[in-house]
Amino acid sequence: MPPDSDALSPLHQPVLLAPVLEHLRPALDPAPAGWVVDGTVGLGGHARAVLEAFCAARLLGLDRDARALALARERLAPYGDRVRLAHGSYADLAAWLARLGLAAPRAVLLDLGLSSFQLDDPARGFSFRAGAAAPDMRFDADAPGPTALDLVNHAGEPELARWLFEWGGEPRARAVARAIVRARPLATVAELAEVVRRHALKGRRHDPATRAFQALRMAVNDEPGHLARGLGAALGALADGGRLLVIAFHSGEERLVKEAFRGAQRAGRGRVVTRKPVRATEEEVRSNPRARPARLRVFETTTGGSGGGPDGGPDGGPEDGARSGACG
Ligand SMILES: C[S@@+](CC[C@H](N)C(=O)[O-])C[C@H]1O[C@@H](n2cnc3c(N)ncnc32)[C@H](O)[C@@H]1O
Repeated sequence: MPPDSDALSPLHQPVLLAPVLEHLRPALDPAPAGWVVDGTVGLGGHARAVLEAFCAARLLGLDRDARALALARERLAPYGDRVRLAHGSYADLAAWLARLGLAAPRAVLLDLGLSSFQLDDPARGFSFRAGAAAPDMRFDADAPGPTALDLVNHAGEPELARWLFEWGGEPRARAVARAIVRARPLATVAELAEVVRRHALKGRRHDPATRAFQALRMAVNDEPGHLARGLGAALGALADGGRLLVIAFHSGEERLVKEAFRGAQRAGRGRVVTRKPVRATEEEVRSNPRARPARLRVFETTTGGSGGGPDGGPDGGPEDGARSGACG
């Protein structure tokens, strides 16, 4: 096993790890480093690397998925009080910082979408390969909200078509939506995938059901809504000279990120660091094909304004880099 791997590494490989650390460095190095928020902590792959690379950094990890968070908790236990974890959405970042009494973060990382750990669990129905499972697709499996099965059986045809087009990029969105409505009631992933495959545009690289499954997942979890709120919350919460890093896997998400960054730059909040998004190297794509569509964008807030510095806020205090857990 490579030195930066552990027992959870096979469940999800963090993407663009080297550029993420490189783009965090100006905000976190030299110490005092202060708080980093990993708004999508998942299995803690990025989080662990951040805690190893920046010894004075402390990390707040959020995730909507309580099962992923439980694994992250175990994995990040060696870092002791350098880590706080909470079950919730990064869209509520400001409320979490206030509730936990944390200083303005030096950096926020959002690694959007879902992890291989979630995709590969057939019971959750994220994948069109999940066969007899019901398509659930909620990140928060305990939330009362509708599942993907509820949406395919009850949403209006125009609404289904809009999701398929806007969030799946499905060119035959209307035909697929019509076919889904005619095939009701649907019960399993296999039934849904079969209806979609018969009507979706066929390509050479991907299963034709890929786009519809992505669109339904985004609709079930209101991912665009959480992203829009989360970007605003992160840009508003960051300390001066802090950095927001967003990894998007989808052109619709990318558009939201680009627009939010440009708007913040126009408003004098700081500058867009990445004129072009950072993409995975061929080597990374070879070892982790999931990294192919990943695009990292970075924004840096202006230095010397009113935002809290690394020492600001109730839980700030001068950091001495000698906290418990790892990094000596
Ligand atoms: C690509 S994975 C992150 C993987 C993580 N960076 C790692 O290295 O292990 C995305 C994670 O974000 C979570 N997620 C999605 N939307 C979220 C939101 N609005 N707030 C918090 N977590 C979210 C998912 O449950 C999933 O665990």
